[in-house]
Amino acid sequence: PKRIALLTSGGDAPGMNAAIRAVVLAAHHFHIEVLGFFHGYNGLLENDPTLLDLSAVNDIIRLGGTILKSARCPQFQTETGLKQAANTLVKQHCDALIVIGGDGSFAGLLALKQHWDGQMIGIPGTIDNDIDGSDATIGFSTAVNTAINAIDKIRDTANAFERIFIVELMGRHSGHITFNVGVACAAEQVLSFENFSADNREQKLKQLAQEIASVQQTRHNSYILVIAENVWPGGATALARELKETFAIDSTACVLGHIQRGGSPDAKDRVIATKMGVAAVQALINGENEVMIAEQNSRMCSVALKQAIQHQKKINPNLVAAHENILAVTAQNQC
Ligand code: F6P
Repeated sequence: PKRIALLTSGGDAPGMNAAIRAVVLAAHHFHIEVLGFFHGYNGLLENDPTLLDLSAVNDIIRLGGTILKSARCPQFQTETGLKQAANTLVKQHCDALIVIGGDGSFAGLLALKQHWDGQMIGIPGTIDNDIDGSDATIGFSTAVNTAINAIDKIRDTANAFERIFIVELMGRHSGHITFNVGVACAAEQVLSFENFSADNREQKLKQLAQEIASVQQTRHNSYILVIAENVWPGGATALARELKETFAIDSTACVLGHIQRGGSPDAKDRVIATKMGVAAVQALINGENEVMIAEQNSRMCSVALKQAIQHQKKINPNLVAAHENILAVTAQNQC
């Protein structure tokens, strides 16, 4: 390609800037221009891009958020929107498009294919880590570390008061963040899509109440339950209220929310974002199209976009098993 269009779309994730930088540097090496479009796919409708030269990406590797801004763009999902976006790419003489985002953003890329015949590459950037075909997504590691740091602090005050906390974590409809954070923080319990369905709500409430009572009687300890957003109807706040109303158990709900999306990317996210950005440019040069750049067993590879959006990535069963084994031991022993 001679000119690449680049945008970030959907929920921003720490490391997106590192990926932008890597695309620009790699493209520069091969004498390819990079046009940055702002506000996700809206940028293709607005047609007000900027040329990303080396100075534009200087010192951005450590920044959270995305210098290209991000958005979700309903208009892009219409035929008119798609045609308008394709027009912009033609007018701007772009022969390739790289989108850094999640599965919704990749579905957008495939829809655009009906109206534009340039090369398309996706780079998986989302804190949710729910994209099938890549061991990790850009931003997941930082989000997990941010949540761990927050919960470690909650643990201090929870210990001091022997209190119960219900901490709600992001992940949309997947529990990658919740399970990893739960295990890493030695949470007394994890509630996620993988081990709970809302049909068992009453039974689960009773079980939690018994568990909490037993921990408090035998160990005089704090109790931290981490729950995935959208798993319990009404979230952490509703669960805390139900424990109080039904079992007279006092607990404090804490929704970590968007704090998990911000902050300087950690080492892992900076490195994976850099590898993916460079691999995306290399894939374009190799003539690849409609693929997502992925990392599998520490190796960069390409996965068909169609395949990547087909299923949500499942949680590693070893992680769920480890969590259950540890809980079985801690429930019976004072540790
Ligand atoms: O996909 C990233 C994510 O942060 C999800 O974890 C969360 O459900 C969603 O985005 C929140 O979106 P918004 O910032 O638009 O409320």
